[in-house]
Amino acid sequence: MTLAAPVPTLNLPDGSPMPRFGLGTWRMGESRRTQAGELAALRLALELGYRLFDTAEMYGEGGAETLLGEAFAAALRGPLRRDDLFVVSKVYPHHASAMGVVAACERSLQRLRLEQLDLYLLHWRGAEPLAETVRGFQQLQQRGLIRHWGVSNFDLADMVELQAVPGGAACASNQVWYSLGRRGVEFDLLPWQQARQMPLMAYSPIDQGALAEHAGLATLAARHGLTPGQLALAWTLARPGVVAIPKSSDPLRLRQNLQAAQQPLPAEALDALDRLFPPPRRKQALAVG
Ligand SMILES: NC(=O)c1ccc[n+]([C@@H]2O[C@H](COP(=O)([O-])OP(=O)(O)OC[C@H]3O[C@@H](n4cnc5c(N)ncnc54)[C@H](OP(=O)(O)O)[C@@H]3O)[C@@H](O)[C@H]2O)c1
Repeated sequence: MTLAAPVPTLNLPDGSPMPRFGLGTWRMGESRRTQAGELAALRLALELGYRLFDTAEMYGEGGAETLLGEAFAAALRGPLRRDDLFVVSKVYPHHASAMGVVAACERSLQRLRLEQLDLYLLHWRGAEPLAETVRGFQQLQQRGLIRHWGVSNFDLADMVELQAVPGGAACASNQVWYSLGRRGVEFDLLPWQQARQMPLMAYSPIDQGALAEHAGLATLAARHGLTPGQLALAWTLARPGVVAIPKSSDPLRLRQNLQAAQQPLPAEALDALDRLFPPPRRKQALAVG
């Protein structure tokens, strides 16, 4: 049932590939009532050809990682290989001391039933000095428990500060809210990351579902044979250096979103979207979800 065309990839700063599109898991693993449906959605996503999965120790307090672990274990008993997957998780800021990062990662790996994460992010900036957190990430890399590390919810000033910390220049990605409704990063952060070949992971690319209800977007999407959610995703992926990670637990929307990731948009659609959702003309505070 895998779609014919694989999801396109881009390169991390060290040249290794990363899928440009994946599945978010926020709000999964929070309740026993919805667990069976969520597990079925994760298994379907793997079957359909999703290869990048974004999670965090925060999501369902480990519940989302546990569900993913079950879905991965089942898929890896079949023809799927571990190298086919790109798994991202995040550490809470209050676990982000050098020792805390290592311990949190070990717990995440246990829940995910994996030996290594492809990318491990600091979820947002907290009280721990950045140098401490970077030291923890370096230890994890030396032990082979993570391939790459990065950050999330960092604005440009935070990124510049991180670069100045010992080892901080090895940051591989920054995950922030980026969507048609939240275009502020285009003013400064996105070009800065693009210049360093550092992928910007766009979270909440459908504005947590709100863009699917936008009347103007719906009209334009219908003209291109898309749903508004699909048009929002295809727009995100038209930006160089951007990875999108929409969340869905719904079988139809899982399929629609993957199709959107394989759908180049004509220039006229991009122009019409710029009129509906104008790009920023000055610095805006980073949106936080
Ligand atoms: N680093 C951070 O601080 C941070 C913050 C927020 C999110 N994230 C990550 O980014 C992921 C995505 O962000 P998000 O979950 O906040 O929001 P999102 O992906 O923009 O939207 C998800 C919501 O939209 C619905 N949806 C999905 N596809 C749709 C479509 N094609 N048409 C209409 N509705 C659709 C989903 O419902 P159904 O499930 O019913 O389809 C869900 O309610 C998260 O799951 C998480 O992994 C990270």
